[in-house]
Amino acid sequence: MEDKVQLIYDSKTYEFPLVKGTENEIAIDIKSLRAETGLITLDPGFKNSGSCKSEITFLDGEKGILRYRGYSIEDLANKSSFLEVIYLLIFGELPTPEQLSKIEDEIREESLVDEDLKAILKSFPKGAHPMGILSSLTSALIAFNPSSVDINSEAEFHKAIIMILAKLPVLVSWTQRRVKGLPLIYSDDSLSYTENIAQMMFKKPNKEYSSNPTIVNALNKLLILHADHEQNCSTSTVRIVGSSHAGLFASISAGISALWGPLHGGANQAVIEMLEQIKMDGGDTKKFMAKAKDKNDPFRLMGFGHRVYKNFDPRAKIIKVTADEVLKELGVNDPILDIAKALELEALKDPYFVERKLYPNVDFYSGIIYRALGIPTEMFTVMFAMGRLPGWIAQWKEMRLNKEPIGRPRQVYTGQTSREL
Ligand code: CMC
Repeated sequence: MEDKVQLIYDSKTYEFPLVKGTENEIAIDIKSLRAETGLITLDPGFKNSGSCKSEITFLDGEKGILRYRGYSIEDLANKSSFLEVIYLLIFGELPTPEQLSKIEDEIREESLVDEDLKAILKSFPKGAHPMGILSSLTSALIAFNPSSVDINSEAEFHKAIIMILAKLPVLVSWTQRRVKGLPLIYSDDSLSYTENIAQMMFKKPNKEYSSNPTIVNALNKLLILHADHEQNCSTSTVRIVGSSHAGLFASISAGISALWGPLHGGANQAVIEMLEQIKMDGGDTKKFMAKAKDKNDPFRLMGFGHRVYKNFDPRAKIIKVTADEVLKELGVNDPILDIAKALELEALKDPYFVERKLYPNVDFYSGIIYRALGIPTEMFTVMFAMGRLPGWIAQWKEMRLNKEPIGRPRQVYTGQTSREL
């Protein structure tokens, strides 16, 4: 293989080195492009641009492969807990039993949240979107835990990681409990990380809480499947905010805002709203397929298509099986699922979707599970955020430890040239 490429511009030949990843992805290193040639590249949406080198997550969109630190998503979803995957993503290896129990203890120690945050939560209007609330509460944590992270201090850095891992699930549960009008509670030290997430979200004030393995298993899988996805919109946001040396919590809060959009994490809410719309309209899936293909109609089939997966989304395969299991075990009969299945069957054989390689993505089925668990629709993206938290932390940590420069793209200016006033 060549180790460089040539660019001919203005009758001069320039050479740029090639960089090869461990999975043979090859990139042109254009760090010196502008200095040498005066040119920049233009790539809206960064469809062809690598922003960093990373050792965390590998995905092959053509083959439908997703691996965290080398382990397949299928193995991790079937054999690991969410906390083990958190450890793997952030610290690079799966934990030994001792390491797992140590981090569980550390998280328990940090799992209280300043009670004054409740006042901020209560100041939101009842109808405020949970993603806005979560992003604001995460930002507010900065004020209550003011020390900015010194990247050179391993202890300080570790503490910041533990704090956000411990406190974000409490904030998520408070956000949901406010939506549902339930009293705000804390974690229970006798439960595991994922059991606690379930307990804090679902415990009723008038009932003894007992952990339901079906619910905990489904949550574990959902959170693991969402835990990282390399340089997606919210993760790139976290890295770019952190590249200004803004703190970890501020960067995560920005990531939550980026995730909110319906083309990213907000799609899981949009899928259920779309399925409900189809049901209310009489259930004619063909009519909505036609709308999705009509270029004069802004309607898109939510939960279909992906920027990177152009064959199938491996997360969607796992989650589809989990959705069937959860609905069966909880005895839920959801007509929305029948509409989802009909849509999927039609789209998979429709030339428009086949030619454009549009397949169901992770969000197509995740909403159905959240719904079966009794999580309100507007909370779905919040669940995604809780799952993505370890990925954001791991990527932020990698970016800071690699001493990456501040993210600052250039532009091709197309406005007015100089003119007199
Ligand atoms: N329904 C109908 N047509 C679609 C859809 C869809 N869901 N997705 C893409 N297309 C068409 C699009 O109109 C375009 O057609 P043409 O070539 O004729 O102009 C072609 O397919 C390529 O689309 P694109 O928008 O250029 O593709 P992209 O890679 O920029 O966008 C996407 C990827 C996920 C934003 C897009 O497929 C989409 O909007 N899907 C629905 C929203 C969704 O489910 N998002 C969740 C993504 S998975 C969770 C996550 O990782 O955040």
